[in-house]
Amino acid sequence: MLRTMLLAAGRSPRLRALAEEAAPLRPLVGRFVAGTDLDAALPVIARLVTDRLVTVDRLGENTTDRAGADAAVAGYRELLLRLAAEGLADRVEVSVKLSALGQGLRDGDAVGLDGARAICAAAGEAGTTVTVDMEDHTTTDATLTTVRELRADFPWVGAVVQSQLRRTEADCRDLAGPGSRVRLCKGAYDEPDSVAFASRAEVDRSYVRCMKVLYAGEGLPMIATHDPRLVAIARHLGRDRPHELQMLYGVRPAAQVELAAAGEPMRVYLPYGTEWFGYFMRRLAERPANVAFFLRSLVTQN
Ligand code: FDA
Repeated sequence: MLRTMLLAAGRSPRLRALAEEAAPLRPLVGRFVAGTDLDAALPVIARLVTDRLVTVDRLGENTTDRAGADAAVAGYRELLLRLAAEGLADRVEVSVKLSALGQGLRDGDAVGLDGARAICAAAGEAGTTVTVDMEDHTTTDATLTTVRELRADFPWVGAVVQSQLRRTEADCRDLAGPGSRVRLCKGAYDEPDSVAFASRAEVDRSYVRCMKVLYAGEGLPMIATHDPRLVAIARHLGRDRPHELQMLYGVRPAAQVELAAAGEPMRVYLPYGTEWFGYFMRRLAERPANVAFFLRSLVTQN
């Protein structure tokens, strides 16, 4: 119930505009977001790469006009140039949401594909890779189609799948071919029972089935979860083949350090930018304790 409310609030353009302008919220958001611009994010990235890998998300989603989509592509190109210039591109890739590139506009599939192609070309020149984030289930088919088209020219493009969706085990079978990179997460969106498992236990069981498919395949499984039981299973399945463990910036940082020290390839998903509201609300929705922390901080600030 609380999760549904927070996720609905996260989609409200009015709340988003109010929140993103509110300076007092910024320190609280800083737990999950590494600053509002690239200059703030780069030192954080440089610190993380001393023991971890990073995937950078230039925040933005559900772009409503072509100018916004073009600005998102330009922002990613600038990010990739800076990563290359700072010598970070061998340990840092980027994560991209197609809705930020205009997937929701008229002719959105073509606009999103063009934008993603430009970002992939810049990533190739920088010497790194791109992973295409997955958004709500209404976009799954279009997003996987775009990933397939991108892979024709850029075979290293990563896909994301969500174990909460009933379709995902089958998607894993389709995606786990040679050279593929597939990030498996539980899914951060509020989905109807018709397409998604309702209980946490079912989502977790689906996660394990999907992991088994990916590890039996020929690609790189990228296991994106903070759930200690699932991380343990991933480490077991990945004990003698390449894989990556992935976690979000600001979530279980001590576990990230421990896993990296144990020799696991640990990649941190690091977002930066001014459009943090939707991302932040999904992080609150994942864990009720975050809401209490957030409200307490607001009260003690005033
Ligand atoms: P779960 O929610 O069960 O959490 C397990 C434990 O982790 C909790 O008990 C808590 O200790 C800790 N934890 C989890 N979330 C926390 C939080 N917000 N704050 C504090 N502690 C927390 N989703 C999506 O739909 N599309 C996508 O493209 C991506 N991409 C992505 C990339 C990467 C690298 C990660 C790690 C995650 C995503 N996600 C995502 C988000 C994902 O779907 C999911 O919502 C979160 O990872 C939380 O799920 P867990 O698997 O961690 O399990």
